[in-house]
Amino acid sequence: MKGSLEGKEIILGVSGSIAAYKAVEILRELTGRGAAVTVVMTEGAQRFVAPLTFETLSRRPVLTDLFTLDYDKHIGHVATGERANLLVVAPATANTIAKFAHGLADDFLSNLYLSSPCPVLLAPAMDREMYAHSAVQENLTHLKARGVHVLEPEYGELASGLIGRGRLPELSTILQKIDDLLRHQGDLTGETVLVTAGPTQELLDPVRYISNRSTGKMGFALAQAAQDRGAHVTLVSGPTSLPTPPGIMRTDVTTAEEMYQAVLDRLDTTTILIMAAAVADYRPSSSASQKMKKQETLTVEFVRNPDILAEAGRHKGSRILVGFAAETEDLLENAREKLRKKHLDLIVANDIRVGFGGETTRVTILDRHGGVQELPERSKREVAHQILDRVVALRSGERA
Ligand code: C5P
Repeated sequence: MKGSLEGKEIILGVSGSIAAYKAVEILRELTGRGAAVTVVMTEGAQRFVAPLTFETLSRRPVLTDLFTLDYDKHIGHVATGERANLLVVAPATANTIAKFAHGLADDFLSNLYLSSPCPVLLAPAMDREMYAHSAVQENLTHLKARGVHVLEPEYGELASGLIGRGRLPELSTILQKIDDLLRHQGDLTGETVLVTAGPTQELLDPVRYISNRSTGKMGFALAQAAQDRGAHVTLVSGPTSLPTPPGIMRTDVTTAEEMYQAVLDRLDTTTILIMAAAVADYRPSSSASQKMKKQETLTVEFVRNPDILAEAGRHKGSRILVGFAAETEDLLENAREKLRKKHLDLIVANDIRVGFGGETTRVTILDRHGGVQELPERSKREVAHQILDRVVALRSGERA
């Protein structure tokens, strides 16, 4: 990881929580990776940790006073914000979150938030009851809708002695997120990405359905990764238990026909369609309106579902289309055939004997030019970024 943040300007905002001491570690890690970091402290933060600690480690003045001019005689908070690639606030207290949500500007950090055009990441830390309070949750919802990235606090022992959700996320989680936000900074800005995820359920009667074992994890990881890279992301999801990634518009559907409609309704405004959903190929030809009674035998007739991706391929335009091919045999041949038939730009072939339902997956990415990239087994988050790297490469190839 050494040098991975070389050339990046980061503002580290520290607000007044006992977790402020952990910001010292964050600063050390960031500078260790080559980033140039400017620390901004609220008054509350200075009660927990002395600015000198941050000043020594960042080798820069710590910004605390709103009424100072920067060295180049710009107004301090404006100049600092303009230079930055990322504003990270860790820990972010309920008070700081509320100020950001409502546009209050009464100290350096809150002014900086309003004047910084760069992406913003918040790592909240507070007591369990405070974090759960609807005032804090509503403020976070506002901020996420505005595109602010928010990490979920962790569960565990809190300063109050209580156990609950409110601990500052682990250092590794914060650094991972910073890396994700900076490494590919904004390379999908301006794109409208539609990701489908999860299984579909095809109803037999009001309580029974036919489905598959897809969990939606790959699609959700793709949605999150695309959003981290600056895209406007919509997720059309079949039934899953996964939480919606912050800042992403989500539409829930149950059947393949509903997914078909949801995707087609949004196709005109979509510039990149990623069909990670495991769409059922068939549905029962009729679904009973009442719960079916037991019989000795049951015969169900199935009819074909519409192929969403093939339909999108027929109206491709300049849209990038990415499909998945889950196979148990002849993986690459089948994937290549689907890529061609459905007019795709990329197809992600996965041997479902490895990836189904788990946190990791092993895939091979095939592209429309005949390129084949075999990836080792990796987390779905990492695989999502590799897929998006290929999407970005295709886009820049088109522009060249
Ligand atoms: O042909 P096959 O179903 O294996 O193709 C898989 C790809 O096509 C996946 O990306 C899947 O999301 C998409 N698909 C679809 N509509 C269907 C079936 C599959 O969009 N009815």
